[in-house]
Amino acid sequence: MCGIVGYVGTRGSVDVLLGGLKRLEYRGYDSAGVAVIDADGHLGTRKHAGKLGILTDDLAAAPLADGHTGIGHTRWATHGGPTDENAHPHLGDDGKLALIHNGIIENFAELKGELLASGHTFHSETDTEVAALLVGDAFRATGDLTAAMLQVVNRLEGAFTLLAVHADQPGVVVGARRNSPLVIGLGEGENFLGSDVAAFVEYTHRAMEIGQDQLVTIRPDSVEVVDFGGAPVAPPTFEVDWDASAAEKGGWSSFMAKEISEEPEAVAKTILGRVTDGLVDLPEVTALGPEVLRSIDRVLIIACGTAAYAGMVGKYAIEQWARIPVDVELAHEFRYREPVLSPNTLVVSISQSGETMDTLMAVKYARERGARTLSICNTQGATIPRESDAVVYTHAGPEVAVASTKAFVAQITATYLLGLQLGQVRGALTDDEARGLVAELQAVPEKLATVLGVGDRIKELAHWMADTRSVLFLGRHVGYPVALEGALKLKELAYIHAEGFAAGELKHGPIALIEPGQVVFVLVPSPRDPRSLHSKVVSNIQEIRARGARVIAIAEEGDVAVLPHADEVIRIPLASPFFEPLLAVVPLHYFGMELASAKGLDVDQPRNLAKSVTVE
Ligand code: M6R
Repeated sequence: MCGIVGYVGTRGSVDVLLGGLKRLEYRGYDSAGVAVIDADGHLGTRKHAGKLGILTDDLAAAPLADGHTGIGHTRWATHGGPTDENAHPHLGDDGKLALIHNGIIENFAELKGELLASGHTFHSETDTEVAALLVGDAFRATGDLTAAMLQVVNRLEGAFTLLAVHADQPGVVVGARRNSPLVIGLGEGENFLGSDVAAFVEYTHRAMEIGQDQLVTIRPDSVEVVDFGGAPVAPPTFEVDWDASAAEKGGWSSFMAKEISEEPEAVAKTILGRVTDGLVDLPEVTALGPEVLRSIDRVLIIACGTAAYAGMVGKYAIEQWARIPVDVELAHEFRYREPVLSPNTLVVSISQSGETMDTLMAVKYARERGARTLSICNTQGATIPRESDAVVYTHAGPEVAVASTKAFVAQITATYLLGLQLGQVRGALTDDEARGLVAELQAVPEKLATVLGVGDRIKELAHWMADTRSVLFLGRHVGYPVALEGALKLKELAYIHAEGFAAGELKHGPIALIEPGQVVFVLVPSPRDPRSLHSKVVSNIQEIRARGARVIAIAEEGDVAVLPHADEVIRIPLASPFFEPLLAVVPLHYFGMELASAKGLDVDQPRNLAKSVTVE
């Protein structure tokens, strides 16, 4: 979860570090800190509990002696509460070494005991300070930061990205990674390290992936990568395909508002270049080979949170279009129960960040057991795609708000492309059927753009409901995962009780929750759907309204049958059933954001959360 940035070059390091931390703050915002080596070779640090703004204001009021080498950290607390003392950097070698960390060092208690026995004192409750003291001691013995870090990483267990600087080696930043993210930004006469490319995209678009159990030493004019055994490696480089402005708020009131407005573009860009002659053309998938694709007898989707709900929507489509059984599992439940996998199982992971630890571990587990793995991911250079046999990137652009919005619609789009591709290759769809579905998918961005117009109406509703303590969401078929998504947004943003239910489940228990005034959002399927789901959901509405529920229906334009039964109707454009979720979720994204705003809450950085959950 924490955000990490390192810099060496010719610029003032404090500005570079604070700029990088600003763009990484979504990863954690319990505390922030920097360490820089000044022009005289002294190490200076500053750190504070609370959001980055507190550190920034303090540095503006009392600047740190600056130099051209430094590291910065924004924290999501694991070991030890969010205090000044527990904020990173932590020091070693009598204050000459500074170290920052993302992850959890699982054997820290044992190492701490050893360090206490040898006379060290601790100033924090963190596991990180153990690493700082160990690297400090190793530096004293070796006189070299790379050698010191190499010695120590081999003693650590768990997940970590570590960055360190030492006053006796200005012009050097050393980083190491195991199961936590780290990428290198390649500049001219300067180099960068970051938890993701957002840390340095303002200065360079050239980046290098660092693999698992690798260590990097950056200097202004060189980048050296070795594995934890000390052998040199040459990691792949890549170009970042978005600009720093994409990760800026611009004139928007919040990143979330901006990112909801980008939902049409997220879908459009995820489709772009992936349709040839009206059919889906995903070389990332076809490269697995037609035999492999035809031999798949089961798809297993693994993901967490919103990404899992996107997977649930995808399940309906892949099963329908490719005629392959599809299961969806929360990644953290998956690998602790010895799941049945075979080489004919295609395990599809979905992750915006590509770093979610639970999902990453599930992918590794599946791969080790012989399943084929494909990731749907939004972040270049992330770990999960690297650990997978194939990757389909969503092109939603950087998502900064902790609550996922545009990534959700892009993920659904990617699962649809996958379902269509499998349906085409396996002959489950005729070309005409596939072309019809592709055309409908291509029409979604324009329809989505019109749904953005519901924002003002939702804002009024949210203000009217600012004191609401519980909201329920009902959906059916592909509307069910959308109901879950609507409820999750309210929990994480507005901190109120919210539940999503499959509408058909209502009478099996949840209807007992209905009492006068209970607000219920209902995703109403199209009345044109031949399976008569519309009339079933309208019956559900009647049942809850008879018990006093206040119903807000999300229904397609022209559905007049729903009017007598709902207190409010939010309209979405006509679309066939599989494409409704992409449209119907927008009002729910707005609602979560607006209810949080109406309550005066921080929309982009809800309490206790971090954007990327890189610990289990
Ligand atoms: O980066 P990922 O897509 O793997 O993240 C998965 C979940 O942590 C994420 O979707 C989370 O549920 C969001 N905060 C929901 O808005």
